[in-house]
Amino acid sequence: MKSIGTGYASGKIILMGEHSVVYGEPAIAFPFAGTGIQATIKANKLESWIESSFFHGPLSAAPNTMRNVTVLLWYLVKHFKIPEPFYLKIESSIPAERGMGSSAAVAVAITRAVFDWMEEPATQENILHFVNQAEAVAHGNPSGIDATTISGTEPILYQKGIGFQPFQLNMDAFLVVADTGVKGQTRKAVKDIAKLMELRPYETNQQMRTLGQLTNQAQQAVLQNKPRVLGDCMNQAQGLLRLLGASNHNLDHLIETALEHHALGAKLTGGGRGGCMIALAENETSGRQLQKTLLSAGARDTWIEGLGVYAHV
Ligand code: MEV
Repeated sequence: MKSIGTGYASGKIILMGEHSVVYGEPAIAFPFAGTGIQATIKANKLESWIESSFFHGPLSAAPNTMRNVTVLLWYLVKHFKIPEPFYLKIESSIPAERGMGSSAAVAVAITRAVFDWMEEPATQENILHFVNQAEAVAHGNPSGIDATTISGTEPILYQKGIGFQPFQLNMDAFLVVADTGVKGQTRKAVKDIAKLMELRPYETNQQMRTLGQLTNQAQQAVLQNKPRVLGDCMNQAQGLLRLLGASNHNLDHLIETALEHHALGAKLTGGGRGGCMIALAENETSGRQLQKTLLSAGARDTWIEGLGVYAHV
């Protein structure tokens, strides 16, 4: 056992397929290097302690909103027979509850830190074993896409119950990510869509299937370097996500603004009802311009990411 364990995890972006992934359809996501979480763990003298911007104090007093962390720690302590107490520090640049996978990322970073502390090999399978249990507490019925994406290193096509295939982003275009500044409501949105599925099963199933088809078309567009086709898939997906009630006026406003300013496509990313949107830009110059436009239109923060071998930021 080392004296200090450290672990890092990035955020994630879902390019296509949020919500429909819960119903077995494919989704495309990638680890998002623009944001991340660092966890550090070491022995403490008196009691187990958590230090984070969200909460600092004894583990026993952690609020219910941190149940994913406390449950995860419980599993890890039990598995590794950790000689409590410990001191855990969490430093994050991932905005919380904005669809960037902050809860999965905090779980991956902590699990990696504990594996490092215990000098155990942190394979993706080992990490996911613990993180999926914590995610089930945070999200109720997660598809597993956040934990899988964040514990890996590559873009993936993910399908619940089947697993994931890594694939190369191969597109001569840039993705702008903008934070509405409003907390997303993944859990609530997932629940409400489950209600829609009960109330209008035929229509809702059709919508899920169409979202799945759009994801497959989007993957082909990425592989064949066809940004306009990807943009069109994104716009169609956003139309359906809006019908399913996953968007909100903050997202709609930034999405409309992006489309009015030469974005090839734009949609929400992650759970929605707040959180972040993504917009596809033809090149880096138009992407940077779009960042400025979205900030003037009220975005809290923006990032830009090249989408492949042609586009490096
Ligand atoms: C959340 O990042 C993605 C959702 O599809 C929920 C899930 O897959 O568990 C909205």
